[in-house]
Amino acid sequence: MSRNSRRDFLKNAALLGVATLPMSLVRLSFAKSGDDFTFAYISDSHIQHIKGNQFVRNWDMGLKRAVAEANLLVPKPDFVVYGGDLAQLGTKAELDHGAEIMSALKYKTHYVMGEHDYYLDLGAYWEKLFGPQWHSFDHKGVHFIVLNSVLTHHHWTYERWPTAERRMAEMSGLDNPNGSPFMVGEKQREWLKNDLAKVPKSTPIVVFSHSPLQKIFKGWNFWTDDAEQVQAILKPFQRVSVIYGHVHQIQYNQIGNISFHSVMATAWPWPYPQSYALAESHLPVLTVPMNRADPFFERDATGWQFMNVKTGRVDLTYQLPNNTTRTVAFNAKTGKPGDIAYQEKTKRIPPQDHY
Ligand SMILES: [Fe+2]
Ligand SMILES: [Fe+2]
Repeated sequence: MSRNSRRDFLKNAALLGVATLPMSLVRLSFAKSGDDFTFAYISDSHIQHIKGNQFVRNWDMGLKRAVAEANLLVPKPDFVVYGGDLAQLGTKAELDHGAEIMSALKYKTHYVMGEHDYYLDLGAYWEKLFGPQWHSFDHKGVHFIVLNSVLTHHHWTYERWPTAERRMAEMSGLDNPNGSPFMVGEKQREWLKNDLAKVPKSTPIVVFSHSPLQKIFKGWNFWTDDAEQVQAILKPFQRVSVIYGHVHQIQYNQIGNISFHSVMATAWPWPYPQSYALAESHLPVLTVPMNRADPFFERDATGWQFMNVKTGRVDLTYQLPNNTTRTVAFNAKTGKPGDIAYQEKTKRIPPQDHY
């Protein structure tokens, strides 16, 4: 980010009464102004154990910084969401260390399961530390839902691998052909239907998942296999936002009444896939006309963002330490999110093909 744009942002942030932070700050003001509130979002720290009490320092530091800055937020968020992939290989050492860092947070935190947390013991230890793999709660007029979207086929999960470590190793690779597509699964979809049965259709719905509840790029599991079925359950509601981690980059999209937004990682950026044109894709419009992350630069496209959900739609301002500030806001005219600087053709960054 240039010094000027950063200064402008800080000035604007001061006007809004918010502080900068390496995570998402979500502002909600659906109801009476007295009910306005914010929540913060931290994701994808990938705490990695080396041996003894040694951990990969860079990933530790990303999370520590996020926690420290969240504690300094003004206004104070009502709660924090952790978006998944707290651990790298799902071990007790990693989850304990991650939990210890997170315990410094002064706020109630809701945890989302990532595949790097799950595929060693299928979430058993994670549940002990952080609670149920899926749940919902109401807060000041908004219905929030936490899903485990990284489940997969019974056979792949239970029968295919000689050890739990091998299963985790196969699922934790970004482009491993032995991996398996993520899914929410029938049992959880039934739970979701029942959960939503009691919620008025005008209530704003905000869903937290780890993988996108849309199909973007199967080769890297930027994908949830039963996405359409989950979307169908959400369809009757007037304002739905899905916020997900996993992709370690900015993505946004609109499918019907559902706005989709990713949050960035505190660990590292993923570059964009070699070509979305090559991907099996079901998106009505490919909404990824943005700067590429540079995989050789550890902090490119990591950062934090502010979210404003005043209208019931999520608007995000991304703060990228080494890139230009980006704002993705819901455009009432087009009925989908747009990137204010990059959506216009003249300002679009030309495709880069060197990855
Ligand atoms: Fe991740
Ligand atoms: Fe992930």
